[in-house]
Amino acid sequence: MTIPIHWFEAFNSGFEEIDESHKRVINEFNKLIETYQLKDVSQLDGFFQKVIYLAENHFAEEEIILEKHNFPDLKNHSVEHKETIQELEKFKSNLKNIAANEFVNFSLIYVRDYWVHHMFSEVIEFQRFNQTN
Ligand SMILES: [Fe+2]
Ligand SMILES: [Fe+2]
Repeated sequence: MTIPIHWFEAFNSGFEEIDESHKRVINEFNKLIETYQLKDVSQLDGFFQKVIYLAENHFAEEEIILEKHNFPDLKNHSVEHKETIQELEKFKSNLKNIAANEFVNFSLIYVRDYWVHHMFSEVIEFQRFNQTN
């Protein structure tokens, strides 16, 4: 069983609007985990499609917020967003080679941990900016 993500204080990035957006993604993502876990590997394509949609929306929202705050490293940050989407797309396109249903939960865990990592890396990056501005 894939454990859902819970928001906790350590995820605070120093940007309230970004934290709100991260919380919305967590909520949506937890719903997806519930829907997809223990399902057939053939459904993972749909799962990844939804995850990519969530990530793209979040990244677009975040870039607008960072621009508003004159975040100096926005260009690199946007590149990282694009790379993240590419990585998820790649993972999704490799799915057709995998037949084992056990892989379903692995995929959910992969995306969940990916998202936790995303939020933690932003805590470090954004808080450094917020402390000096
Ligand atoms: Fe980001
Ligand atoms: Fe983010």
